[in-house]
Amino acid sequence: MSLQTQIDMTKLPQHIAIIMDGNGRWAKQHNKPRVFGHQNGVKAVRQVTEGAAELGVKHLTLYAFSQENWKRPKFEVNTLMKLFVKTVEKELDTLNNNSIKLNAIGDLENLPKDTYKALLRGMESTQDNNRMTLHLALNYSSRWEIMNATKRIAREYKEGLLTEDQINDELMSQYLTTSGIPDPELMIRSSGEHRISNYLLWQLSYSELYFTDVLWPDFSKEDLYAAIISYQNRERRFGMTGDQLIKS
Ligand code: IPE
Ligand code: IPE
Ligand code: MG
Repeated sequence: MSLQTQIDMTKLPQHIAIIMDGNGRWAKQHNKPRVFGHQNGVKAVRQVTEGAAELGVKHLTLYAFSQENWKRPKFEVNTLMKLFVKTVEKELDTLNNNSIKLNAIGDLENLPKDTYKALLRGMESTQDNNRMTLHLALNYSSRWEIMNATKRIAREYKEGLLTEDQINDELMSQYLTTSGIPDPELMIRSSGEHRISNYLLWQLSYSELYFTDVLWPDFSKEDLYAAIISYQNRERRFGMTGDQLIKS
């Protein structure tokens, strides 16, 4: 029986963030080049997008390409960039039919022109959809975004547009690429790696972290359900004691 029946629909995370990892190792296991893993990773993207939307999750953020990923072999980077274009174009109808809005976060302007344009087209054509937003983190780096926010705040402070008192938790959040999006309650990483890899450092401050050994191309709706169930069985204390939570 599907794990879906065990999900408590009243305690659904509003925002799930995922580090899609393990494409290269999956390809290796199948005696294929690394890019074969990326191509097969698209199926898992479809699965989690569909699975999350069906449940009623409002935001799904997928780490698709980090600023550190430029260090990979040129062929792999070029193939990934082309794959992003192809996938966005191919999936647009499905996104629109399911009322899913596409958004991208990261240093988008420094992506190859084709990739940038495909993303803009995708975001524009899905902008009125409201069931769920799929955020793709592309050419993304959390330190980069925090640095940019800090620079903007410094500039606006200098120009007299901001006072020191106004610089708080909430304001910082508004200056990040995820402005207006609630912080993820749950962060999932596939492939058995236990690290954050420069992903949403500010936003993940109090997220529940879930790690699975499943390699990304094998990641299914059931794996998503398992992560949500694990999340629902945890006690989120936010600094308080367990007893305080029972009383409130
Ligand atoms: C994740 O899979 C996809 C991207 C980073 C684009 P990897 O390509 O990192 O796969 P492994 O970690 O080498 O197995
Ligand atoms: C993180 O995966 C980035 C993406 C999933 C896009 P990596 O595979 O690049 O992470 P590290 O370098 O092994 O930490
Ligand atoms: Mg990896």
